[in-house]
Order: sequence, then C-alpha cells, then structure tokens
Amino acid sequence: MTQELIVGLDIGTTKVCAVVGEVRDQQLDIVGIGTAPTAGGLRKGVVVNIDTTVRAIRKAVEEAETMAGCEIRSVYTGVAGAHIQGHNSHGVIVIKDREVTPLEVERVVESAKLMVSVPSDRAVIHTLVQEFLIDGQDGIKDPVGIHGVRLECRVHIVTAALNALNNIVKCTNKAGLEVSGIALQGLVCGEAVLTEEEKALGVALLDFGGGTTDLAIFAGNSLRYSAVIPVAGNNITNDIAVGLQTSLNHAEALKREYGCCLNALGAQEETIEIPGLGGRRPRSIARRELAEIIHLRLSELLGLIAKEIHRAGPAHPVLAGAVICGGSSLIPGLEQLVEDTLNLPARVGYPLVTGGLTDVMRDPAYATGVGLVLYGHRLQQGSAASSRLRGRRAGSRGNLWGRVKKWFQEVV
Ligand SMILES: Nc1ncnc2c1ncn2[C@@H]1O[C@H](COP(=O)(O)OP(=O)(O)OP(=O)(O)O)[C@@H](O)[C@H]1O
Ligand SMILES: [Mg+2]
Repeated sequence: MTQELIVGLDIGTTKVCAVVGEVRDQQLDIVGIGTAPTAGGLRKGVVVNIDTTVRAIRKAVEEAETMAGCEIRSVYTGVAGAHIQGHNSHGVIVIKDREVTPLEVERVVESAKLMVSVPSDRAVIHTLVQEFLIDGQDGIKDPVGIHGVRLECRVHIVTAALNALNNIVKCTNKAGLEVSGIALQGLVCGEAVLTEEEKALGVALLDFGGGTTDLAIFAGNSLRYSAVIPVAGNNITNDIAVGLQTSLNHAEALKREYGCCLNALGAQEETIEIPGLGGRRPRSIARRELAEIIHLRLSELLGLIAKEIHRAGPAHPVLAGAVICGGSSLIPGLEQLVEDTLNLPARVGYPLVTGGLTDVMRDPAYATGVGLVLYGHRLQQGSAASSRLRGRRAGSRGNLWGRVKKWFQEVV
C-alpha cells in the first residue's frame, strides 16, 4: 500500500489554515487540520509582519501535525491580494509539418505568454491553457497529433508582485517548511467547491474572506477571469465598530452572533445588547441597525463584483450562477443578496471531499486550504504521469513532454 502526504497551507488575512491530505492507493482523504489566527500578520491578503505570520504558520502546522499524527515538511500555499492580475491572451503559429507536435504546443503557449508584458517586479504564477484552435476549429484540449496549418491557443495568465510572493516563501521557510508550489487562492478554491458541470457551463466563484474577496470565473472547464477585491469581512467588522461605537472584538462577536443581511431578518423586531467602550454602560439597539450596516457594505461589495463580472464580458456567461465560500459567506442572507444583486442563482460552496474529516470540512472558510491539497494532488499526479512518459520517450523530447503536460495539468 502506498501512502503519501499533501499539505495545503492557506495563509489568510484572518487565519492560517493547514490541511493535511493523505493519498492511499490513489484515494485522497483529509486527515488533519490546524488553524491559528493571523493576528495582524497580513493585511488585505498580503504579508505585512513576518514574525507574526511565521508564528501563526507554526501554530497551525503543529496543530495539523498532531491531528494527522505526521511530520509536515513541505506545503502548497496560496496567494491573493490586490497585486494579482489576470490577463487573457492569445497565441498563433504555423504548424510546420502539418501535424501538431509537443514542440509546437510549447511554441504557441510561449507566443501567447509573450503577448503579455510582465515587468521585472512581477512573476507569472499560472499559465492556464483554456483551449487550442486548429484552422479555426475551437474547443480543442489536447492538439498533439492533429493535422492542420494554423495552431492558436487561448490562455489565462496570472501574475503577482514578486515581493508579495517572496514574503510568502520567506514566512513559510522561516516556519521550517519547504514550498512545493504557490497557487492563486481563487483558482484552488474552485477545485474544492465547484462541480465539473458548473465549471463546464460557466460559474462565478466568490470567496468572501476577511481581507479580500476573490472572484474567479470558470467556463468550458477553464479559468476565464480572475480578480481580487480588497474589501471583505474585516471591513464589515470595522463598519460595525464605528457605526455602533464598540470595540473591534465586540463588533466581530456581534457580527458572528447576530449579524445578517436585511433579507434574513425575522418579522419580529429583535433588540441586541452592545457592550460599551471604556467602561461605559451597555446599550440596546434594534438588530435591524446591525443588519443595515452589514447589508450596506455587502451591497457595495457586490456592486464591485458585478462590475468585474461585466468586465469579464459576454464571452464568459456564468450560466450555472454563483458559488460563494470563505468565512464571510456564513453571513445569513448573503446567498439571497447575491441572487438579487447579481441576478444569478447562488449557493454556498462547501469543500467537496470524499473521505476523512468530512465534518471539519463542512465549513466554507476551509475551501482554499482543501483546494490547495487538491491542487497539489493534481500536480503530483501529473508529474508522475509525465515522468512515466519521459521514461518511454527518451532524450530531450521526453523532457519537453514533461513541460507540455504541466500546462495540461493547469487546465482546470
Ligand atoms: N459565522 C460567521 N458570520 C459572519 N462572518 C463570519 C463568520 N465566520 C467567519 N466570519 C468572517 O469571515 C472572515 C474570515 O473568513 P476567511 O477565514 O475565509 O478569511 P481568510 O482566508 O483568513 O482571509 P482572506 O481570504 O481574505 O485573506 C472574517 O471577517 C470573519 O469575521
Ligand atoms: Mg481566504
């Protein structure tokens, strides 16, 4: 029996979450999880304090190790933040001997990459091939061996600020861990919560986190558009603290206990108690006041999301609707508000894992952590397949196959 560990480390604005996946006889189970508050180590998805972040990573990883009864040495981690940019690009080449070879696949993908200028302070983190076209025929996923004259490819290229990536690697290394790979949080989140049908038909994935809300549009089984909006749960907590004149801690507790959108308020006028600041007496307010503050911020955020979906354009209709995840997706009434504002059917996305700690996984805040495990698993399966191929196809042609197969693995 073969056994292998794959660990996802989600370094979020409010919490670090380590998820341990165990592959036994090709079956992936989630066998451990650990979380620790980030406690100011990140702001809006970006590391702003190395030591605090390192401590949170160590704590989350130790907890996950204890639960899984294992030692964690390397992790797949995610990146988010307003510095992330997604570009759709297009490459064209002439097929030399009228039959597509792996070399031509590499060339056409390179030509699409060259169309996007990447400044020296940024790095490409994903080159996601959406489809190939041969002599105008679209929808081709694997063109090798097909006859034609003109080979085109459509790719989605995701770039990130080098400094932000370096800081993630630095924190992870300082916590004693190697980084096996870094992925866009919105992309891996999709691996955890979306069904194949949704990804094929077209779906908008919205990860309502603490510091950022990540939008990823999938269609035709590929990522078509991505955006990171630096407004999320922390802004709501802040609004509550300011609006109701209470501390951030009390505001957070009030939000979790009584917070909801206006559409989720019952008919009865409920009142809630607000702890006073600096020893002042507590006050009673109508729960509606709290809901109004939350509703206002979420409506504004959904307005920004609607603009992004509009920017993605009619080429990528989201026929399957929207899927919401992240800790803030637990706010009662958000699903309905998304439906009403974006005019799309919506559902909450829970991590779709088959075995292991399914109870722990029934929380949309763990979607990115689970997604990182699934992403790591897919990459490892892909590289195992390409080394088998390399074995069969000796020499440089074999190595090329390995690289080409890597793009196919990136096609989600
Ligand atoms: N039951 C709940 N009701 C309302 N909000 C909640 C609830 N549980 C968690 N949240 C909010 O979810 C947010 C954290 O979500 P999540 O854990 O997905 O964020 P993160 O991954 O740490 O941050 P990010 O992805 O933005 O970097 C916080 O703002 C928190 O207040
Ligand atoms: Mg998150």
